[in-house]
Amino acid sequence: MATAAEHYKNLLADHYSWMCGGFDAKVRSNLEFFTTQGITPRGSGGAVDLGAGPGFQSIPLAQLGFKVLAVDLSRKLLDELESNRQGFPITLIHDDLLNFPAHCEGPAEVCVCMGDTLPHLETFDQVRLLLERVYRSLECGGRFILTFRDLTCELTGLDRFIPVRSDADTIFTCFLEYETTHVRVHDLVYSRSGDRWVLCKSWYRKLRISAERAVEWLKEAGFTIDLCDNINGLITIIAGKPAG
Ligand SMILES: C[S@@+](CC[C@H](N)C(=O)[O-])C[C@H]1O[C@@H](n2cnc3c(N)ncnc32)[C@H](O)[C@@H]1O
Repeated sequence: MATAAEHYKNLLADHYSWMCGGFDAKVRSNLEFFTTQGITPRGSGGAVDLGAGPGFQSIPLAQLGFKVLAVDLSRKLLDELESNRQGFPITLIHDDLLNFPAHCEGPAEVCVCMGDTLPHLETFDQVRLLLERVYRSLECGGRFILTFRDLTCELTGLDRFIPVRSDADTIFTCFLEYETTHVRVHDLVYSRSGDRWVLCKSWYRKLRISAERAVEWLKEAGFTIDLCDNINGLITIIAGKPAG
């Protein structure tokens, strides 16, 4: 098994933006999401992006006027974010997202952990610790936005083979195996090399977090819940730190 950091380094970072449908489309859809949810700077203007990847949330938050701290363990994806950043005030931090408070200069107005980053944490205790740290790092009235996949329902048989994306040169397939608290995520990428196909494979674990548990832990940390949706297995939660 690879750790999440190893998995991104050895396989996923090289294909991540392509696999997600491209950088521009993701930035556009997140800008629309933040705008619809009324996420604009009203306080300190500080935003923290946990598991920022290539910047699918950091860039739109900066476009909306936030000063962004982008935290990620993948050097390759942070390099991609650096090349996408167009002079926006985004500070890149190469560190474990659990350590983010050490990099904050003051309380943040918005914190996001989006695009299925949360299940990359290794244990439920780490998730709870993160939620507590986010609560403490937000200003009163600040918001915490989470989006992640609901992996609590099990796919069975051949449905566990998921065709992620393919084009003339690359075929990306994912295979899932379920454990009690985790899912083993096997990523298989065939890349064209001349007249041959080269296979790159790696697997790592993701946590199976339900919306109900996440909401319970957020409330325990002190948050109020402004929104909780589960649309086709994609959970979106917007939590608030009550105003002083
Ligand atoms: C599924 S990607 C999400 C990226 C982006 N937020 C999006 O919406 O596509 C998960 C990201 O979290 C990062 N990551 C995973 N575990 C991490 C950790 N413990 N600390 C920091 N970054 C982590 C990965 O390197 C990757 O960039």
